[in-house]
Amino acid sequence: MTTLGTPLSPHATKVMLLGSGELGKEVLIALQRLGVETIAVDRYDNAPGQQVAHHARTITMSDPAQLKALIEAERPHLVVPEIEAIATPMLEELEAAGTVRVIPTARAARLTMDREGIRVLAAETLGLPTSPYKFCNSLEELQAAIDAGIGYPCIVKPVMSSSGKGQSKIDVPEDVQKAWDYAMAGGRVSHGRVIVEGFIDFDYEITQLTVRSVGAEGQIVTSFCDPIGHVQVSGDYVESWQPHPMHPAALEKSRQIAKAVTDNLGGQGLFGVELFVKGENVWFSEVSPRPHDTGLVTLCTQHQSEFELHARAILGLPVDTRLRNPGASAVIYGGVEAQGIVFDGVEEALRVPGTDLRLFGKPESFVKRRMGVALARAEDVDTARHNAKLAAGKVTPRKA
Ligand SMILES: Nc1ncnc2c1ncn2[C@@H]1O[C@H](COP(=O)(O)OP(=O)(O)O)[C@@H](O)[C@H]1O
Ligand SMILES: [Mg+2]
Repeated sequence: MTTLGTPLSPHATKVMLLGSGELGKEVLIALQRLGVETIAVDRYDNAPGQQVAHHARTITMSDPAQLKALIEAERPHLVVPEIEAIATPMLEELEAAGTVRVIPTARAARLTMDREGIRVLAAETLGLPTSPYKFCNSLEELQAAIDAGIGYPCIVKPVMSSSGKGQSKIDVPEDVQKAWDYAMAGGRVSHGRVIVEGFIDFDYEITQLTVRSVGAEGQIVTSFCDPIGHVQVSGDYVESWQPHPMHPAALEKSRQIAKAVTDNLGGQGLFGVELFVKGENVWFSEVSPRPHDTGLVTLCTQHQSEFELHARAILGLPVDTRLRNPGASAVIYGGVEAQGIVFDGVEEALRVPGTDLRLFGKPESFVKRRMGVALARAEDVDTARHNAKLAAGKVTPRKA
């Protein structure tokens, strides 16, 4: 049984978000609606989620001492990682000591904090189909891995990176050095380790949102959202839509893979399982043990968005993963490097039928920083994609 408290009282139910970007902001709003007291943590002040939470804290989340001190001072009931770059061994320590419950589990946060733990688990422990891969510590090892079987084309990614940072495709031997240098410049922590993956020539890729929630008998129930299709440019999501039509056999395989991975990671919450599909073949790519950026589309397509599903699942409440209507999302990039930018064209964007907008409120804009998203619901996915892109294109960020 779940009992929820009153925020800012001695009986508050307290949840701490580690990472308070646009995805965390929506989780925080969903929690606020259930009367949860929220603590938004990020590495910089006025992060999107900090603007809507009861409390805002700014620390270096990859520093175990700072993380421990904050959790011990705030004593939240739940700690909810929203990003990967966190001192996850410290979360495991605090969870083991009974200080806090980590969502979905501290082990899941550790295994997914870089590309290695989760890939080894999926491919070697669970035996799931993935691209052929090899981890390399030097340019020489990279070349040797390609020559020994990965072949061309292949993709190189820093082990610690996200949103396509430091990632590139190698088509010919002449590109190997460039890909290595690019990975070294783009990794989050420059410890010089990369994964090289054989290129999968997929027909399409999907995100299979998967929820582990508590059922009426107290047992864990796994539920699936409709598949989300998406387009990635240089490893970063630019457009997503739901539902993505799939061959029944491919859908069945996708859900088997998603179930196997999320069963192993355990705990409660929503997961974004990324899969490549070609005909009836499905490959596991990676998984976020938390809401997924391509799932922003669920803000306009499902009865409960992925953020509401996450909030409910982590609190032990029932979930409803049903689709309400087709829809699409299109990313709005900053386009400029400046602080405190302004957005023209919002009115025109919202005149496009069935649209909505999220402007994240990030204090600083970069050319390739995601500053907002346009959402569109429609009778069919094609119309929704058209309208989402149309609306996104009308929003023009500029220096104030
Ligand atoms: N082995 C691969 N074959 C084909 N495309 C790939 C492969 N790995 C990654 N990609 C493409 O790059 C995108 C980003 O890669 P991903 O591993 O998901 O990195 P990130 O953690 O930055 O999201 C994928 O969604 C896919 O479009
Ligand atoms: Mg990805």
